[in-house]
Amino acid sequence: MTQDNISLDQNVQRLVRYAFLEQAVMRTLAGWLPGVPEWDAKNQIGLHIWEDADSCERLRSRLRELRVHRPERDVPAGLVHLARELDHAQGTLELLATAYLVVKRALLEEYRRHPHLTYQVFDAPTVRVLGELTGICERQVAWAEQMMAEVSAAHPDLHWQPWQDYIAGLLAAAGGVDGDQPAPSQQVARPAGHELLLPWRECQREPDFPIFDPDSDIEPDAETQPEAHRAWRFKHYLNEMTAAETLGSILWLTPEMPWEFQYNAARHLWDEVRHSQLGQTMVQRLGYRIKDIWQVVQIYNVMMTLPAVDQYALLTTVIEPNGMPEKRRNIEHFEKINDDISAQAITYDWSDENYHIRWGKKWTPVMLETYGYQETPEEIARRTEQWLMRNTPVKMQTRMAEEHGTTLG
Ligand SMILES: [Fe+2]
Ligand SMILES: [Fe+2]
Repeated sequence: MTQDNISLDQNVQRLVRYAFLEQAVMRTLAGWLPGVPEWDAKNQIGLHIWEDADSCERLRSRLRELRVHRPERDVPAGLVHLARELDHAQGTLELLATAYLVVKRALLEEYRRHPHLTYQVFDAPTVRVLGELTGICERQVAWAEQMMAEVSAAHPDLHWQPWQDYIAGLLAAAGGVDGDQPAPSQQVARPAGHELLLPWRECQREPDFPIFDPDSDIEPDAETQPEAHRAWRFKHYLNEMTAAETLGSILWLTPEMPWEFQYNAARHLWDEVRHSQLGQTMVQRLGYRIKDIWQVVQIYNVMMTLPAVDQYALLTTVIEPNGMPEKRRNIEHFEKINDDISAQAITYDWSDENYHIRWGKKWTPVMLETYGYQETPEEIARRTEQWLMRNTPVKMQTRMAEEHGTTLG
């Protein structure tokens, strides 16, 4: 303990900056999730979106203990500008080179340094939080370094360095992560050819991935064709990646929504990535490779013709509740044929879905209010369900909506 330790006010100023940068990177990655074609990177970024939201929430929770309840109020303009510019990457390499290898790398340095600057005993809760965030950030940066090497080896013609220099320059101009670094006086201009590509109207896949053909999607009967039904069922699970991508665009398009919504939506997003991974695990057990399975990109693309509020209402108050009766039937079916692993996979999914539906009930009314809709939650559910029945390329969704209509009488 020395006279040089930072004060509570200086501590708060730094924590506000870290929380903002975690949230900013989370939002950029969410917007970019549909735009990343590399399957492994897409899966990892899905996890990181949740980790960043959770790191932000832990910092915000520590800030509340230090009596700061609206940290977003005190964010310096330089950091806000940096956050907007991060979105302007032109592909996976530029995204990794900046969100991870500039911003997260700089955050990691501060997370390691900060515990030595503050009072170990008086401020022990901050030291604990930053210790946990250091581990998360270290893993993410190490992953990005490895992924950069892989992706740049596949695309030696892409020059990502000017974009990385630009974003690093903006961070320096904002005083660095801690705000204490002397800012260079020179203005940095955005490199040419960096128009905003967000939101992604079409989700991207690796070029050799097969695309779903709606006409050849026939649902096998579970009783008479259990093997074919199992494979079909988990191929559709693998395609829940498109639900994660839809949530990524919704998150990016709704920055006016409260932080708590963003926190829930980031978790919802990662859950859908996990449901896709559940499908991946099961189809791999059945002997398929991921790149053999058709990708239902059409559902993301057609939903993107709707505004974000409609997409959220459709997903959480129509598609997810409509899917619940089938999950229960599938659990019973797999239990009956003694396929415990399949039954457990769907039981976990069912458990997650209960939360998604609860979040939909909580946040749809807030969205309608925030974006000036005149409709009630029931009206937007009815309207978007009718839209779904006309527009979905997935027969299963039409069948579920029809079943839902029958149960309504
Ligand atoms: Fe799901
Ligand atoms: Fe879900």
